[in-house]
Amino acid sequence: MASEAEGQWVLMATGQSPTNIAVIKYWGKRDEALILPVNDSISVTLDPDHLSATTTVAVSPAFSSDRMWLNGKEISLSGGRFQSCLREIRKRACDFEDEKKGIKIKKEDWEKLHVHIASYNNFPTAAGLASSAAGFACLVFTLGKLMNVKEDYGELSSIARQGSGSACRSIYGGFVKWCMGKKDDGSDSIAVQLADEAHWKDLVIIIAVVSSKQKETSSTSGMRDSVETSPLLQYRAQTVVPSRVLKMEEAIKNHDFESFAKLTCADSNQFHAVCLDTSPPIFYMNDTSHRIISLVEKWNQSEGSPQVAYTFDAGPNAVLIARNRKTAALLLQKLLYYFPPQDKDLSSYLVGDKSILSDAEL
Ligand code: ADP
Ligand code: DP6
Ligand code: CO
Repeated sequence: MASEAEGQWVLMATGQSPTNIAVIKYWGKRDEALILPVNDSISVTLDPDHLSATTTVAVSPAFSSDRMWLNGKEISLSGGRFQSCLREIRKRACDFEDEKKGIKIKKEDWEKLHVHIASYNNFPTAAGLASSAAGFACLVFTLGKLMNVKEDYGELSSIARQGSGSACRSIYGGFVKWCMGKKDDGSDSIAVQLADEAHWKDLVIIIAVVSSKQKETSSTSGMRDSVETSPLLQYRAQTVVPSRVLKMEEAIKNHDFESFAKLTCADSNQFHAVCLDTSPPIFYMNDTSHRIISLVEKWNQSEGSPQVAYTFDAGPNAVLIARNRKTAALLLQKLLYYFPPQDKDLSSYLVGDKSILSDAEL
């Protein structure tokens, strides 16, 4: 979109990106600047209605510096991650022309034009629900749209990765794998889609919001401490994750819920074990998180096979994946029984899959 006012113009683009929740976790970098991980990871991209970032980017000759507002508050763009994304997108910008508005931007002109960015998350920011994933995927995607970037999604994922590792997976919907890559320059550390949104439509995802407060330890600093101090992290990355990734790919391909659930829960628990193995230890889950795990484990045991998988990112909020809609309804009933609204252990439930069922605010 472009508009002219007294010889000045503003060119804008808006995009929306959902967050993603890892079922095989990324935790640990082998290169901090390029954001290269110590292991592959696999995630499910959520539907955008409840968990997404919406970002508008604008360029104009009237802007004198790059600026950004997150959820209505101005934030600094001086950090290396924002600079990397801006630099990599500007490098790939192409000629743009809008004859009607009389706007012509040459490839090399993009370097001189400043951007203003406004982004909103429709879910808690920095609370362990992967806002950095939705945020940086959206930023890169929308900047690319504005600057007429023609790279494929693999290349965009590698740029989003330089904003936040988990963001590379939010470039795609469905089930996504981030291949750690082998090269030192990170060019092969990209995300690939394992299966699209239409695959495994039975699954229903319920997010139990235990706390929407900003976490005390960011993912970035938490995983840095784990890499430096946790012996379990090295064992996990080298010995456990490679075979788990293969098994998870098979489970997803075959709609094998039993394997999917066992691997998902085991990987979440090992990730939080690595956090405990870190010095000083990091506690992302709290008592309510632990009670949710017990509820699911007991239920799965009593049924003889898994009905629900749980996974927790770097925060106390539970992501629960039910094998179908009937199970999801039962799960909601159980949650409401064990966590009655008046107790305020859970602040809300967000229910959905790739198409939302309902939103049950308590
Ligand atoms: P989370 O668990 O929510 O991903 P992180 O600690 O990994 O928490 O990342 C939070 C950081 O991600 C924020 O401080 C901010 O820098 C960045 N971020 C969050 N939302 C956005 C957004 N919409 N656009 C750009 N950056 C964002
Ligand atoms: C627990 O991608 O937020 O959510 O790369 O430093 O920005 P940075 O970290 P981030 O870490 C995500 C960790 C996780 C697991 C995952 O999403 O795979
Ligand atoms: Co994050």
